[in-house]
Amino acid sequence: LDNGLMRTPPMGWMAWERFRCNVDCENDPKNCISEALFMDMADRLAEDGWRELGYDHVMIDDCWTSMQRDKDGRLQPDPHRFPGGIAKLARYLHERELKLGIYADFGTHTCGGYPGTTLDKIETDAQTFADWKVDFLKFDGCYSSPKEQEKGYPLMSKALNATGRYIGYSCSWPAYQGGLPPNINYTLLGEICNLWRNYDDVQDSWTSVLSIADWFFSNQNQLQPVAGPGHWNDPDMLIIGNFGLSPDQSRSQMALWTIMAAPLIMSNDLRTLTSEARNILQNKAIIAISQDPLGIQGRRLLQEKSRIEVFWRPLTNLASALVFFSRRTDMPYRYQSSLDRLNYTAGLYDVYDVFTGEVLSLPSHTTPFTVSINPSGVVMWYVYPVTHHKLTEGAGRYPN
Ligand code: DGJ
Repeated sequence: LDNGLMRTPPMGWMAWERFRCNVDCENDPKNCISEALFMDMADRLAEDGWRELGYDHVMIDDCWTSMQRDKDGRLQPDPHRFPGGIAKLARYLHERELKLGIYADFGTHTCGGYPGTTLDKIETDAQTFADWKVDFLKFDGCYSSPKEQEKGYPLMSKALNATGRYIGYSCSWPAYQGGLPPNINYTLLGEICNLWRNYDDVQDSWTSVLSIADWFFSNQNQLQPVAGPGHWNDPDMLIIGNFGLSPDQSRSQMALWTIMAAPLIMSNDLRTLTSEARNILQNKAIIAISQDPLGIQGRRLLQEKSRIEVFWRPLTNLASALVFFSRRTDMPYRYQSSLDRLNYTAGLYDVYDVFTGEVLSLPSHTTPFTVSINPSGVVMWYVYPVTHHKLTEGAGRYPN
């Protein structure tokens, strides 16, 4: 969607995967869906270095409303859990240079059973969100038919635009219709949405993360070309920092999501994150790759018999990212290759290992290298051509 927003994949935090529809503020006040939770996360983003790295959205998901619309037919937050109201929460975030995302569902009800947004309510809800100074909308798709969705998703795009407020727009439409052409018209989605969920919800497990990655890369011929600045595929939230992933698997999710030019939207508890999880999520080199201005989604290049897979994403300045991923379950695997085997052209390259910080010089694209990849882990490289010798090396070498 060409609204000037999300020219690089959006970053931030979203409630759903970690906090679900926990509305029990009486017994679980710290973890229930309430304004306090979103203010806590806003504080963490602002104070723990996240915002400066680009994690600037705080996104409400399902279960934030009352069971009824108000007397004018507008959505209203649950008065006990959001006593200050959404406008005040938006102000709290804006004061911290953060953005507020909200959630609605195109259909009779949200997936969690709260009031949905039917066709006749689209304009009202868009205007309500704009009045509250919301910055982003996730528009879910429970309880509507394919025929209705064909009308509703474009109509919400129009309605948001008509408010005059810049509101990023995430469409769950494809996730409800199989996620693939010809059922899904990705040209149209690119025109009306900033991002879209294509596939299943992520759960707190490696099986879930792997099945999502597998689906996206198996269908890369259809999905890779449709992403770009302002319009992204969304394989769902980062679950790093929760309970389901080992450290290696956490690095794998971060690396594979970055290759996919995916939104980096965490769903975890920023108040209790371990430094190990934080270091992965706050890795500057990976974030720079994720946010590369070209905005080209990467691809899987190879699936080896050894159960090593290689992924590649082109970046600005003729640089690129490579990910070596192991599906093995035995021990670290020593994988041998050379850049020419990965379609690189002749030249001298330096590679930066984004997790270890090591730099390696490859004097030729045919120079063999070996990477050691842990089971369900990755090695991730930032690769860049060396266009001139360093001064110290060159000094004595060139005739004047
Ligand atoms: C289904 C969506 O795909 C999830 O991300 C989440 O928003 C839930 N619905 C909420 O009910």
